[in-house]
Amino acid sequence: MSRNFPDQFLWGAASSGPQMEGAGSLNGKAQNVWDYWFEKEPETFYQQIGPEETSGFYHHYKEDIVLMKEIGFNSFRTSISWTRLIPDGLQVNEEAVSFYRDVFKELNDKGIKPIINLYHFDMPVRLHKQGGWENRETAEEFSRYAKIAFTRFGDLVDEWVTFNEPIVPIEMGYLNDKHLPAVYDLKRAFQAGFHTMLAHAKAVKAFKKSGHSGKIGIILNLMPSYPRSSDEKNDQDAAFYADLLFNRSFLDPAVKGAYPAELVEFMKQEGITLSFTGEDLEIIRANKIDFLGVNYYQPRRVQAGDPLGSGLDKYFQPYQWPEAKINPHRGWEIYEKGIYDIAITIRDHYSNIPWFIAENGMGVEGEERFEDEKGIIQDDYRIDFMSDHLGWLHKAIEERSNCYGYHVWTFIDNWSWLNEYKNRYGLVRLDLASGKRYKKKSADWFNALASSNQLTD
Ligand code: BG6
Repeated sequence: MSRNFPDQFLWGAASSGPQMEGAGSLNGKAQNVWDYWFEKEPETFYQQIGPEETSGFYHHYKEDIVLMKEIGFNSFRTSISWTRLIPDGLQVNEEAVSFYRDVFKELNDKGIKPIINLYHFDMPVRLHKQGGWENRETAEEFSRYAKIAFTRFGDLVDEWVTFNEPIVPIEMGYLNDKHLPAVYDLKRAFQAGFHTMLAHAKAVKAFKKSGHSGKIGIILNLMPSYPRSSDEKNDQDAAFYADLLFNRSFLDPAVKGAYPAELVEFMKQEGITLSFTGEDLEIIRANKIDFLGVNYYQPRRVQAGDPLGSGLDKYFQPYQWPEAKINPHRGWEIYEKGIYDIAITIRDHYSNIPWFIAENGMGVEGEERFEDEKGIIQDDYRIDFMSDHLGWLHKAIEERSNCYGYHVWTFIDNWSWLNEYKNRYGLVRLDLASGKRYKKKSADWFNALASSNQLTD
């Protein structure tokens, strides 16, 4: 069976500056939290591999963009490194401007549309030391940074993203110890989340005011929440709260311009009072996104909360669905239909806003064992993963979902925040020692898909 995707469908991959550029302190780049954390506690990082050890896009972007073209990309998402562009928060780094301008030109020249994100977990250390997103001033600084990016690159980029997965640094940094500041504090989490949203809205406002003809959006990691049972009220409530806190807390203000009333109620229940002004809410209301990017890897399965539990346990607890298919390498559930459920939710509850899959992919540990005698990684599992998800995405599009693209995570094996190179995600294999690139089997499969705009079984 073959299934056609809409004309002009975007095919490509996503990555981020901090995960693939390397060249950490070169040409004036200042430290972000990851550089800083690695310097202080390298043992926290898998095999002590720090953010300097990347595929070196900073030096290799020309050959990488040629490779992207060979794989059939018509679009590619990466992020600008904030501390490369404005190292001290005041002065624009002209070396960085010329690097990014060259990259965006090169992409455009090859017919690969650059989709440029402003923030991918890389808080400048300078701002981190002043409270990061907990400090309202960070939102002001972000808005200044965004304006500089629009002015310097607006002629080369017409699809902008403010944040990738803004909830991740909140969840992992304020309810977990996987991002800095690594504390557990629900109130601080909410305040940091609010300032992130405010920063987003201020950047959208600046973009609209700038008169650029392009579009601006946000990328959210939406995890459909499924209850353990469909008839137990407590399980249903658990799924409602997981969705409210982890999906709707950014989705609603970004698309609808307002926080869900139930979230406000939740804060009251938890005794959380935020500091904000009426003007902040007005900025959020007036600056909705043009498009949405969705990162989908796995669903969230939950069961009734524990009334005597602490923190969020009161509202929901994780639930291991016995029928779940698990990616043994990453421990994440693979549930292809989740992509369809997201599409239908956006269609029915978020005015069918134009959206695209901004990340979907499969991380695999020890991938070298799948290498054949010619040295090509036979990653059929990755092909199946993409194909199965795309099948469900296609069905949603047939049912009127306004989805206009699919980006895989990722183009080339890249450095990751928590796992460094433990799980490989690329269509292209990176030999870390030599820096050499080798297309995996999935790269050819992707090229056939993108070039024909057709998914074939
Ligand atoms: C996404 C992030 O959530 O997942 C990426 O946007 C990240 O930055 C990717 O690398 C894969 O996650 P991990 O932890 O398996 O590398």
